[in-house]
Amino acid sequence: MALIENVPRDSFSSRIGVIAAAAGSAIGLGNIWRFPYVAGENGGGAFLLIYFGFIVLIGVPVMLSEFVIGRSTQSNPVGAFKRLAPKSFWPLTGFLGISAAFFILSFYTTVSGWTLEYLFLAFKDGFAGKDVTTLSAEFDAFRTNGLRPLIWQNIFMVFTAFIVFKGIKNGIEKYTKILMPLLLVIIIILGIRSVTLPGASEGLLFLFNPDFSKITGKVILEALGQSFFSLSIGMGTLITYGSYIGKKENLGKTALSVSAADTLIAILAGVAIFPAVFAFGIAPEAGAGLVFITLPMIFDQMAGGYFFALIFFLLLSIAALTSTISVLEVVVAYLSEELKLGRKKATLLAASTIALLGVACTMSQGPWSILSIGKYNLFDLLELISANVMLPLGGLLIVLFVGWFMAKDKIFAELANNGKLSAGFRYVYLFIIRFLAPVAIAFVFLHGLGIFGFFGSGDL
Ligand code: PFF
Repeated sequence: MALIENVPRDSFSSRIGVIAAAAGSAIGLGNIWRFPYVAGENGGGAFLLIYFGFIVLIGVPVMLSEFVIGRSTQSNPVGAFKRLAPKSFWPLTGFLGISAAFFILSFYTTVSGWTLEYLFLAFKDGFAGKDVTTLSAEFDAFRTNGLRPLIWQNIFMVFTAFIVFKGIKNGIEKYTKILMPLLLVIIIILGIRSVTLPGASEGLLFLFNPDFSKITGKVILEALGQSFFSLSIGMGTLITYGSYIGKKENLGKTALSVSAADTLIAILAGVAIFPAVFAFGIAPEAGAGLVFITLPMIFDQMAGGYFFALIFFLLLSIAALTSTISVLEVVVAYLSEELKLGRKKATLLAASTIALLGVACTMSQGPWSILSIGKYNLFDLLELISANVMLPLGGLLIVLFVGWFMAKDKIFAELANNGKLSAGFRYVYLFIIRFLAPVAIAFVFLHGLGIFGFFGSGDL
């Protein structure tokens, strides 16, 4: 629609719509499924502290940079770099983002499909009377089954494509405005239930009490990757959403509110999960199965468990959906604006090609386990490469671009809405994106990949 003469480009219609959509993108499986298990595997409190530092010092400035690029160009990630730096290699940053969208969406819809299965199981009271061994065997049987997870995954993709197909105002904004408040209510109810369980305090200690001996290069890279993944930054999702933000909105405030909401929900997810995990004597580092194995067992043992299981998996599906639409939108915006496909064709093409990679990802969990390198199957590989390599690399390029290649006046005009806002933070922001963020990202990244060996093991 955007490029048809005289038809205004679709955009968000309200401030609350902008926040709901961007927070909807940020808050997702990354907060509720990935954050607790990555924090659990990487030392709990110590991880949280580093994670928090990365959000404030790097995440918010990268997010703001994406908004600046998007809103100033009114373009998808590839088009945006083409406009700002024609005939240069910068548009490749946009293509890196499009590839990351393919990678992320394919493994993300696998997990989103699992959430639908578990929502269905919760509804059937399917966890009743099962111990961890049974639940774990059942999760593995389902995950590696092939057909069943594939069906759920594709159902999920259809929901995603439906909303994206409807466009920005009547699709993304409309649905995120309903779903996000619902998600907040559900997670608060779950948090309250969890901290009021006997023995919950141990879980809170695990999450909030930092044990610095746990910090290694790997932990730091994981925290960086998790902060990028969780904020949806480093691949142009927020360039795309930024391009739909109205000229009157305050970009700085928006980036801050979205990051704060995302962090709050990750912490609430930790508060909902760890006390329950400890209260029932389960290992916090249970890995990717944490919410699919341990939580069903916990739900089964606690009062009101049927209800809590149901709303938990509903929460997880909603959170996933408001994120998958933002990732698909990156590819759809590119196809419709750069290759001039209509939104309908673009959505169909994007969703179906991603679904193909998604099939390989889901099948790599079992029937096609041949799709592996070492101990990582395709699913693990795409998750690791996208979160820990592509997003930090994309984020690095984005801050370098805004910091060193965009005209300072243009950036400041965008931050201050052409003089209407004071944007007093602009010099601090500029300092961060020119020096602090690039050096920090490059250092953590190279170290985490094992190129420096300063803090111990550097493998992924
Ligand atoms: N931020 C989402 C989450 O935490 O689940 C995942 C995600 C969405 C990553 C969009 C990247 C992205 F562009």
